[in-house]
Amino acid sequence: MTNTPQFLGRSVFDLDDYSAAEIMYILEAAKGMKEINLREYKKIPTLRGKTICTLFIENSTRTRMSFELAASRLSADVVSFQANISALSKGESLQDTVYTLDAMGIDLYCIRHSSPGSPQLVHKYSGKPVINGGDGRHAHPTQALLDIFSIWEKLGDIRGLKITIVGDILNSRVVRSNLIGMRKLGAEVTVCGPRTLMPSYMEEVYGCKVQYDLQTALQDADVVMGLRMQLERQTEGLFPSLEEYTKHYVLSKHTIRYAKKDALIMHPGPMNRGIEILPEIADSQQSIIVEQVANGVAVRMALMFLILGGKV
Ligand code: CP
Repeated sequence: MTNTPQFLGRSVFDLDDYSAAEIMYILEAAKGMKEINLREYKKIPTLRGKTICTLFIENSTRTRMSFELAASRLSADVVSFQANISALSKGESLQDTVYTLDAMGIDLYCIRHSSPGSPQLVHKYSGKPVINGGDGRHAHPTQALLDIFSIWEKLGDIRGLKITIVGDILNSRVVRSNLIGMRKLGAEVTVCGPRTLMPSYMEEVYGCKVQYDLQTALQDADVVMGLRMQLERQTEGLFPSLEEYTKHYVLSKHTIRYAKKDALIMHPGPMNRGIEILPEIADSQQSIIVEQVANGVAVRMALMFLILGGKV
């Protein structure tokens, strides 16, 4: 595996900053990292002496743990910021928090925050590269990269694939980053959900198709991705009840038959089983939901390696 200067010191705020060729380069690097993850001895010394901080100010299981595992597999030191037991809970600002952490010698920040634009602020305060692990409803670029990697690994070239993303489009940062990445690589993406959870600008801004009818949206899809119903972000009563949502949009054996026979089933997690997806589909042979999580470690290793100029 070789490193390349164009990634050195670069932040990952969202995928619009990255060209199709650069995204493919990251996927190739992640493929190499996955091979390391499959070895009996999974650790390599490439980032020895570097310090990576996971600055998570919103809850997470997958993203946080896979950033920390990725850093550890590359032999970096990891500082894990716990918002609820930090001075942030005593009223310290994000700016002073970053100044404090930075004084201890951080080389790279991986951040999650409920406010869009927080990763850019951390970069401004620290001058260090920042990887966005999810900022409000805005972006989740590493989730998109691992999703695209998972599809590429199974189906090869992304160009021309029919990908259908179903669910709470309005509140999803995952769908926004995925649309940018998938469209750059030439996929035909359809988003599907209730009108009240569908922003009016989707076609114009992202170049995707919009469908409100699940059966039509799933027709001939190569890939079907369910999204979590983001109950914590819904304050406006945008649909009558969860039962109503499930009746029209759940991914089940019954609804999935409109997609291609062996269509990949994906979900970024965490899942609301029984609401947006039934276990019969989430745990089926077609599902790659668990593999998505495994691939998240490889993709985050690749980014850390490229940004910090790891040596092999
Ligand atoms: N997909 C995702 O971002 O999951 P977590 O919230 O568990 O990190």
